[in-house]
Order: sequence, then structure tokens, then C-alpha cells
Amino acid sequence: MSQQVLLCPPTYFDVVDSKNPYMSGKTPVNRKKAQEQWDGLCASLRHCGCEVETITPVPGLEDMVFAANPGFVGSSKKTGKFVVPSHMVHASRQREVAHYLEWYRQRGYRVIDLDLAPEHLEGHGDAIWHPGVSRVYVGYGFRTTRGGAEKLASQMTTMAVQAVVLQLVDPWCYHLDTSLCPLNSEAVLIYPGAYSVESLDRLRPHWKRVYELTEDEARGFMGNGIVAGGHYITPHITPHLEAMLRQEGLTSLVVDTSEFEKSGGSCFCMKAFLPED
Ligand code: ARG
Repeated sequence: MSQQVLLCPPTYFDVVDSKNPYMSGKTPVNRKKAQEQWDGLCASLRHCGCEVETITPVPGLEDMVFAANPGFVGSSKKTGKFVVPSHMVHASRQREVAHYLEWYRQRGYRVIDLDLAPEHLEGHGDAIWHPGVSRVYVGYGFRTTRGGAEKLASQMTTMAVQAVVLQLVDPWCYHLDTSLCPLNSEAVLIYPGAYSVESLDRLRPHWKRVYELTEDEARGFMGNGIVAGGHYITPHITPHLEAMLRQEGLTSLVVDTSEFEKSGGSCFCMKAFLPED
């Protein structure tokens, strides 16, 4: 069965404020180019065997294109397909949540509302599954709060999912998905500078092979890639990253996301992987 993936067209995408250090707003967004790049990402996902689903974009929700953030999606024996609604830090992003929830609800997902306020939790921006293992990594520090991460962790524990809570310390890696990308069940790409010392020590033992990105690679969103169909979909590539991918039998597939990088996001956060039925 092909991997289903949810994306949101960039119809109203824009950089209107500064939610993270990438959003200087120095160069305005070129919407036409953004649409072409988004089309390119969809084409690459299909090329890698994914089935692309879309949600209708909403005017005024300039970041809705980052489909990974409004909910944390998974599936468990007990609940079936589920979504944990995010409590986003920024008001315009918080308004996305109801639209995404409705999309999930209509498709039979069970909504697990953690009643997060006053804490924050930003979906797959900060919560990443370990492939093939009942484990999730949850980052906190810039967007998701420690309390939000802990609420998700306790919920996961009740569902027999292990949660590894990690403290993020580099503002350029404000979401976990900028510094952690599982390549398969044994290997992971990380940017070590994103984590507190204790968190890094907690993360490493869960993986047989840990590949380290440089600071420049991390800031170039090379840890924000998508693994699909033997490829690593990435906005940029270096010989160093290419060599690490090769050791895991992956081939890079470069997709231009320059317009979205102005907003602090790239491939990984522009989609949500959907669980199989
Ligand atoms: N401008 C968006 C924000 O700051 C970008 C989100 C990118 N998502 C991600 N998971 N890194 O919220």
C-alpha cells in the first residue's frame, strides 16, 4: 500500500511576522514561485510512491502550508487512527488547528484532546515517530513547552508508546524536525548542537547508527528531509550528507523550497504522513 501524505497548497502562504530566526522578511515571498516549488514537492512525493492528499487552504492563515504542525498523528491498536490537536504558540497558527481537526475528523480519526493550555505542543514539528518502533521523540524549548511535551509523553505511555523528551537549545533549530530525521529503524540524522547535553545523551542509545549534520547543513534544512521509496527528499545536498545517505541505501532527491525556507520550514514540515487504515 502506498504511503499517504497530507499537504496544504500555498495559496495564501506569506511571511508576515517573525516567528523564528529565519523569518527576517528581507526578501518577500514570491507566491508564483512558492506554488511551483510546492507542485515540485508533490511531484517528488508521488515519484517516491506516496499518495498526496490535500486540505483546502484558508485565507489569512499564512503558515497553513506547514501541514506537520497543527496535529500529531498516529495509530494504535487500542484507538485506531488518532490525532492529538496542537496548541500552537502563535495566534494565526492556532487558528489552523480547527481546520486540520475537521479534516482528520471527517476521515474517522479519533481526536485525543490533551487540554494543553497553558502549555504548547506543535504536532510533528516537535514530535517524531521512531520508524517501526513504538516510540516517539518529543522536543521542547522554543515552541512546545516542557509541560506540553510531558502531557504528550504521559498520554503516549497510556497507549504503550515510549516517549523520549528532549530539550532544544538552539533557536535556529526551534522545532525538533530541524535537527532529527530518522532514516530507518536503526539510523538517524541529527544536528547535535540543537540539544542540551543530557538530552543528546538520552537520544543516542536508541539508535544503532547516528549520523551528524554540520551546523550549516542543519541551517540549510538538510535535517528536514523526507524519507520515502528509497529516497531522501531534501532542499539541499552536500557530499557529506550524500555519503551518509549512501551508507543507508538512500539516494538524495533535491527539491527547491527556497520560498518556504524564508518562513523557517522545508520538506518535512510541509507534510503529515498519514497512518495506514
Ligand atoms: N513559519 C512557520 C512557523 O514558524 C514555519 C513552521 C515550519 N515547521 C517546522 N516544523 N519546522 O511556525
